[in-house]
Amino acid sequence: MSRAFAHVPVMADEVVELFAPVPDGRVVDATLGGAGHAVAILDAHPGLSIIGIDRDPDAIHAAEARLAPYGDRASVHRARFDALADVVAADGGGPVSGVLFDLGVSSPQLDHGERGFAFRNDGPLDMRMDPTTGRSAADLVNEDSVESLTRILRDGGETKWASRIARAIVNARPITTTGELAEIVRSAIPAAARRTGGHPATRAFQSLRIAVNDELAILPGTIDDAIAALAPSGRCVVLAYHSGEDRIVKQRFNEAVTGGCACPPSLPCVCGAEAKVKLVFRGAKKAAPEELERNLRAQSARLRACEAVA
Ligand SMILES: C[S@@+](CC[C@H](N)C(=O)[O-])C[C@H]1O[C@@H](n2cnc3c(N)ncnc32)[C@H](O)[C@@H]1O
Repeated sequence: MSRAFAHVPVMADEVVELFAPVPDGRVVDATLGGAGHAVAILDAHPGLSIIGIDRDPDAIHAAEARLAPYGDRASVHRARFDALADVVAADGGGPVSGVLFDLGVSSPQLDHGERGFAFRNDGPLDMRMDPTTGRSAADLVNEDSVESLTRILRDGGETKWASRIARAIVNARPITTTGELAEIVRSAIPAAARRTGGHPATRAFQSLRIAVNDELAILPGTIDDAIAALAPSGRCVVLAYHSGEDRIVKQRFNEAVTGGCACPPSLPCVCGAEAKVKLVFRGAKKAAPEELERNLRAQSARLRACEAVA
């Protein structure tokens, strides 16, 4: 792994194991990052190849270098993952043997201050996974109304102090750095509340990042597309790090399990809906305690998997 893109893949053993029974063929890694999971899958399963997708040019650069030794067993595509169906079509068409999502941000996105994601590493307020397109976090905090910022903060999980923080942001404009924003958020939260939990700006930063990258809006349709692309016995495996994300994954998987059947659960199905997948296990798995000791990022991970039925 290059020093410039140091990211330890979360629950890698569990992910590799989940792809053991799938038919030989291509697995889409829809959040390729530094290709940590992709390499683990390629090494463990000689019958599988990888179609890698990421919207971050730094990740694409790192993944291309890391996957070069695998030759035509790996292809790398710079795209948003809601282009999954188009990427698969361009790569020879479906169906595919699996799709992996390792949602959220990579360690380098957080660690490199100039990407503007983190309050701990001061830098220009940006937060775009693809810094060449769309509105940055600075655009949002300097242009949006108090109401819009309150909604963004609430949707991202800052339920308690959203409107206080939104008002403080609007009063402090212009805001240009992550350090400035962290201090504004900290000061907006009552002193007693600041003493509990982690850094007071954690949720606000996460909420802004989710809004800047449209993370929750494009997820449901993309999970549906991933399931539709699976070959029989192919698997869709998702790692989520935020309750809003995990709720969407659970909901889309459940919809595919029932085939959209709306018949009363106590009666036999008469609507003709057919299951597209079955769950590989019920609920979400968490990382083992030994992994949590080694890798803090694994703490909030929730792993779900479903398998296409023939
Ligand atoms: C947690 S990291 C993945 C790390 C990777 N599994 C590894 O082992 O190195 C998430 C990656 O997904 C990318 N990403 C997140 N949302 C995306 C989207 N909607 N479209 C494309 N890439 C996305 C991010 O840029 C980031 O590189």
